[in-house]
Amino acid sequence: MNHHYFSDEDYIILEGEPSPETLKRITDFICWTLELRPGHRVLDAGCGTGIIASALAERDYVVTAIDSSDFMVNRCRAFASKTANLTCLKQDYHTMSYHNQFEAVVSWNHSLGYTTRADDRNALEQMYKALVPGGKLLLDLHNLSAYLKYFIGRHWEERETAFALRDAEYDFSERKFICRGIVAPKGSEPTREQTLTFLEYEPDEIASVLQDIGFADVTFFGDDCPQDCGRMFCPEGYSEESTAMVIRAVKK
Ligand SMILES: C[S@@+](CC[C@H](N)C(=O)[O-])C[C@H]1O[C@@H](n2cnc3c(N)ncnc32)[C@H](O)[C@@H]1O
Repeated sequence: MNHHYFSDEDYIILEGEPSPETLKRITDFICWTLELRPGHRVLDAGCGTGIIASALAERDYVVTAIDSSDFMVNRCRAFASKTANLTCLKQDYHTMSYHNQFEAVVSWNHSLGYTTRADDRNALEQMYKALVPGGKLLLDLHNLSAYLKYFIGRHWEERETAFALRDAEYDFSERKFICRGIVAPKGSEPTREQTLTFLEYEPDEIASVLQDIGFADVTFFGDDCPQDCGRMFCPEGYSEESTAMVIRAVKK
């Protein structure tokens, strides 16, 4: 059966979830790099299960988490029912219409790139509008050079209830990954399959889109950090080996 990647539990089986320690390190990084203060309003655009949004809300930021998938929104609402300061909405980031409402916008774990480059630009324009002047965007995308080395091909991982196989190829003319995800349950259920394509960005390209929209101070962070860094991502950690390309940009 072929179905939409973000529409059910199989997404979580295929992608896995960050451990509590990794989640803490990601949240520490987000708070540090965005200079968040208690009461700051944060928009999580493409929030998925809400795992990052709820970790931020628990630290006393006022978080609005949006996602276009019913499955994800329901997952996020389960967090929201237990967490003050977290509002979860079913919304498409291309058509959201916030104006000067957030000190920060976070788009974590490659939440762009599922339609066209023009759509992605439009989404980034909406994120720009959503920020107050001086507000900051944090965009976590794949780092293409590392993904070309490590993501292409077949990779198995064992989860609690199933084996998860990803079989990825890269279309160099369209600059997108095409990834088949196969879930093989451990019991007698049949395997399930879905395909996800996602556009990739070169650093110069995404920096120029952001600057064109009006963002300034575009800074890249990566996870290939020096040993004494202590953070999960830092500017020195942005290299060809970094799997992440995290970009911070400021609305002037
Ligand atoms: C790879 S997941 C990342 C989820 C989350 N940010 C995280 O860190 O776990 C991408 C998410 O973007 C959402 N998404 C894709 N297109 C969207 C759109 N146009 N508007 C809102 N959310 C969207 C998907 O439903 C999915 O939950």
